[in-house]
Parts: sequence; C-alpha cells; structure tokens
Amino acid sequence: MTTAGCSAILAAMGTIIVFANQKGGVGKTTTAASLGAFIAQKGKKVLLVDFDPQGNLSSTVGADPAKPGIYEVITGKVAVEAAIQNTSEPTLQLLASNIHLSGAAVELISVPEREFYLKKVLEPLKSRYDFIFIDSPPSLDLITINGLTAADKVFIPLQCEYFAMEGLSQLVKTIQAVQKSLNKSLEIGGIILTMYDSRTNLAQDVAKEAVKYFKDKVFRTIIPRNVHLGEAPSHGLTINKYRPTSPGAKAYEKLAEEVLHRV
Ligand SMILES: Nc1ncnc2c1ncn2[C@@H]1O[C@H](COP(=O)(O)OP(=O)(O)OP(=O)(O)O)[C@@H](O)[C@H]1O
Ligand SMILES: [Mg+2]
Repeated sequence: MTTAGCSAILAAMGTIIVFANQKGGVGKTTTAASLGAFIAQKGKKVLLVDFDPQGNLSSTVGADPAKPGIYEVITGKVAVEAAIQNTSEPTLQLLASNIHLSGAAVELISVPEREFYLKKVLEPLKSRYDFIFIDSPPSLDLITINGLTAADKVFIPLQCEYFAMEGLSQLVKTIQAVQKSLNKSLEIGGIILTMYDSRTNLAQDVAKEAVKYFKDKVFRTIIPRNVHLGEAPSHGLTINKYRPTSPGAKAYEKLAEEVLHRV
C-alpha cells in the first residue's frame, strides 16, 4: 500500500478517550456528556460509552433503560450493534450502562485477558466514529483499568476544590503501570479544571498547582461552577440542549473547540 493510502486509513480512525479520576464527583460524567454533545453538534460522530455501573452518563443523555448495554456486550450476551442507542443529537450515540456492570469486575477477575474486554468491543468501532468517549467510575478497579487499556488518551477532570490534587499521584502511577504493560500508546491527553468558582482563592490555587504539575496538558478552558450543568441530567438532556446559552454550556463548547484543535 502507498504511504498516502496508509495515512488515509489512519486519518479515518477515531480517537478513544477515557475520562478518569478515582475521586468521586469531580465532573467525569458531566464532561464526557457535555463535551461529547458539543463535538457531535459540530458534525463529528461520537460514541459515548458509559462504563460506570452508576449509569449516570446513560441517564444524562436520556437512554432507554430497557435496551441492553455495555455489560451485556462485554459478557457476550448481545452483539454490540444491538446495544448502540441513538440520542437526540443525530451524530451522538451511546453504549449504556446498568447496575449489572458492577458485577463485571468480579466476574472478569479470573478470566484470561480480563483487562482487554472493553478494548475488544471498541477496537472494531474505531473506524466508524471520530471520537469514542469512555466514562469510568470513581475507582481504580478492573473496570477503570479496562477503560485505560482501551483508550488512546486519558482526560483527567480536576475539581477546583481543596484536596483536588490528593490521590492524583496514585492515578498517575496507575496510568504509568497501564502504559508499561497493557497499553503502550496510552497518553495523558489533558487535565480539565471543573466547577471553578473565581470568587475563591482556593480555585485559583488548584488551577495554579495543576499547571505547575501538568504544564501545557492543562486545557486553557476552565469549566465554571454552573447550576444548569447540575440540573441538565435530571431532564435527560445534555447542556447544549438544556441551556445552550448558560455559562456552563459556553465553557464546554469552548472546550470542545480546544479538544478538536489539540487531538
Ligand atoms: N461545572 C459544574 N457546575 C455545577 N455542578 C456540576 C458541574 N459539573 C458537574 N456538576 C454536578 O456535580 C455532580 C458530580 O458531577 P459528575 O457526576 O459529572 O462527577 P463524576 O466525577 O462523574 O462523579 P462520579 O465519580 O460519582 O462518577 C453532579 O451532580 C453534576 O451534575
Ligand atoms: Mg460519573
């Protein structure tokens, strides 16, 4: 094959991004949903993969709870095609999650290649999407390891609060361990500062600290604390549909542009 032919195929491959941070409530799900929705709104094909038994990403985009999800796919109960759902955004699709996924970490523990289950499902889908976003639970267990093994890049949301940086070294160590043995091409794609309140010195301190440690990996766009971002999931809507002119929506739209420029 010619070099041009090769690069045409490479260019057609989507990028798999996992949102990870074992700290709970830092904005992993909100960022996966909001960023995914804005990138899709710009005409890109995006698949959201809810790889968290809590199923928050699935409810955020108004998933049909009767449909099978990623658990049924990784355990071989249904084909991936039967589990992919459409959302109200034409180029945004979803592989949903449900509580059964919480058993998967235990079920998989004794099977060979247990870290590669998600990768095996997503790899064949890569050429069909521009981006595949994996949301992960607040833990560093086998579920998150499957996400890191399947991904090209990890995005780390950091909540601009006291203790934000705590536990990060453990996350970075886990990423390094995955890079060493399971997924050599994994890289930290970016740090996303979330729930920023400019009125507090603390938020500014966290932002400064993050830049000191992660340098230009920190995205320039900072997501403010915004009540509409908190409300949107209860309406089964992403922020671009729920309150498109809110500060939260504007920030995620800007972040979407930055991600498209960087990735
Ligand atoms: N920028 C924001 N402003 C206000 N509320 C927000 C913002 N981002 C997220 N939230 C709300 O904060 C809560 C935690 O956010 P989210 O669920 O995205 O975090 P998470 O890291 O996915 O949590 P978990 O670790 O439990 O999966 C949610 O109720 C969400 O709606
Ligand atoms: Mg979440």
